[in-house]
Amino acid sequence: MRQPMVAGNWKMNGSSDSVKELIAGIKAGMDSVSKAEVVVCPPAVYIPRVAGAAADSEIKVGSQNICDEDKGAFTGEISGEMLKDVGCEYAIIGHSERRALYGESDELVAKRFAAARRNGIKPIFCIGETLEERESGTTNDVCARQIDAVIALEGVEALADGVIAYEPVWAIGTGKTATPEQAQEVHAFIRGKIAALNADVADGLRILYGGSMNAGNAKELIGQPDIDGGLIGGASLKAEDFLAICTAAN
Ligand code: PGA
Repeated sequence: MRQPMVAGNWKMNGSSDSVKELIAGIKAGMDSVSKAEVVVCPPAVYIPRVAGAAADSEIKVGSQNICDEDKGAFTGEISGEMLKDVGCEYAIIGHSERRALYGESDELVAKRFAAARRNGIKPIFCIGETLEERESGTTNDVCARQIDAVIALEGVEALADGVIAYEPVWAIGTGKTATPEQAQEVHAFIRGKIAALNADVADGLRILYGGSMNAGNAKELIGQPDIDGGLIGGASLKAEDFLAICTAAN
C-alpha cells in the first residue's frame, strides 16, 4: 500500500509574516490528516523559518530546486548539503517552470536528481507535456523521455528514492485540470513503463498529480488507482484549501 502524499509548492510567493502564518495554519489542522504524508516547499529563503516552525509536527519541508553540484563557484545556486542543513527532506526537481523559463534540460534535471540522492534528499521529480505535445499525441513519449534521462544517469532503482509528479504543463496554474481519466491514463503509462524495467520499484513508487488540483477535485483525482497524491501550487497558499486536499487524500 503506497502512502498518499500531498506536497505544496509555494513557488515565489510569501513574506516572513505570511509564511509564518501559513505554516501555523497547516500545523493547526494536521489532526484531520490521518494518512497522507504532508510536505511544504517554501521559497528557499524561508526554508529555515518554515522548517523551524514545522519541527515539532508531522509536516516535512522541501526545496523548489537543488544544485547539481555540491560546492563552489555556482553563483545563485543552493547545494543539497545546505538544504539538508536547514531541514529539507525533499526537493522539487525539474518543475516545468524551471524547464521552460530557465532552460533546464532533461540532462540537467537528471543531474539535479542525482545531487539530491547523494545528499540524502528525496526528489519530487516533475515531468509532463505541454499543450502542443498533448495535441500532437506525444504525451507518453515526452514523459518517457524525461524519465529515461534519470534512468540513464542513475538507474531505475534510483526512482525508488523519491516520487514522480506528473504535471501536464497546460494544467498548471490555469484552472484547467486534467480529468481523472486523463491523469490516470498517463499515471498508468508511467507505472507500466517503470514496471517493464523493475516491477518492485514501479509498485512502490508514488506518482503524484499536479496541475490545478484543489479541494473540489482532489478526491476524485487521488481516488484513481495510479494517482498517489498531489503536488499543489495555487491551492497550497491557503492553509484551509491545502488541508482540505490533504484530508481528501485520506
Ligand atoms: P497549480 O501548480 O496547482 O497552481 O496548478 C502546480 C505546480 O506547479 O506544481
